[in-house]
Amino acid sequence: MKHNIVILPGDGIGPEVMTQARRLLQHVGQKFGHEFVLKEYPMGGAALDESGLPLPPETLKACRKADAVLLGAVGGAKWNDVPAAQRPEQGLLQLRKSLELYANIRPVKVYDALLGASPLKEDIARGTDFVVVRELTGGLYFGARGINDAESAAFDNMTYTREEILRCAQVAFDMAARRRKRITLVDKENVLSTSKLWRAVVRDMAAKHPDIEVDYMYVDNAAMQIVRDPRHFDVLLTENMFGDILSDLGSVLGGSIGLLPSASRGDKAPALYEPIHGSAPDIAGQDIANPLATILCVAMMLRMSFDMEEEASAIESAVDAVIGAGMRTKDLDPSSYIGTVAMGDAVLERMN
Ligand code: IPM
Ligand code: MG
Repeated sequence: MKHNIVILPGDGIGPEVMTQARRLLQHVGQKFGHEFVLKEYPMGGAALDESGLPLPPETLKACRKADAVLLGAVGGAKWNDVPAAQRPEQGLLQLRKSLELYANIRPVKVYDALLGASPLKEDIARGTDFVVVRELTGGLYFGARGINDAESAAFDNMTYTREEILRCAQVAFDMAARRRKRITLVDKENVLSTSKLWRAVVRDMAAKHPDIEVDYMYVDNAAMQIVRDPRHFDVLLTENMFGDILSDLGSVLGGSIGLLPSASRGDKAPALYEPIHGSAPDIAGQDIANPLATILCVAMMLRMSFDMEEEASAIESAVDAVIGAGMRTKDLDPSSYIGTVAMGDAVLERMN
């Protein structure tokens, strides 16, 4: 059986980290006897330069037909002056919306061997292991917005339907059932109507899932609790904008944003996997980017899209072993580090 994977290297360090993902997929294919067909398409600033659009129609079409999509990173200062509607980030938002990838899954895990790199005290960071489930196709990101000609007023509308909340919350409940069975709904229910609806929907679901413990937290408090007591969280469920902010907050707990993968899924289209980090144009082309987030995206993809648990675990164990053996890219240890390709090699060696 063929598995068709669309690769969108994107901008900055995207192509470099993606090269390591490709090597890994080839290796897994050989070792476990799978046929991964990888096809590359332009996206983001790279596509903008080529064709004037951050998400060309051929790229979107290929994504729709694929079994899974793997994205590097998009954007960079180079495109800061292009009109807002054509910015590389818009390509990403269009892709999420067109494929209706309504749930964004961002695991936050602190490795014991990297506790020293955490900005938190070791005792607080140790054992952190939670997943942010962020709603991805609604809320402020896709509401009506505008600014008047005089630039004296502007607005962004936040709307959620019951159905939008329900389908995203369902992902969180499914995930919690397979984890430590706790969901924290993060909202601003003391102020926002949308938050009241989120709570109502999640309360109904909680009543039907007595095995899952659900608690409710205001977003400002959640920001505080993530740095004060990150082990409180198992599955953190929240709307689009809060999830954007809190997932960046969570991402540094383990020492580097360069370690964290993410998955975005819907019901109809293939899922999209992307590292949480950006395109980091300042370090592009120097063989110093950390490929581990993208490598871990491959593991998430194999598990979630292709049901290849053994293959996914083999990758995750290899990454654990590499980190445990003290191998570091520059983001993790600026004084003594190995390059992007060498890190890819190290993971491959431990896959045998
Ligand atoms: C993310 C990014 C995007 C977002 C940007 C690039 C539009 O920050 O994936 O978290 O805000 O969703
Ligand atoms: Mg973000």
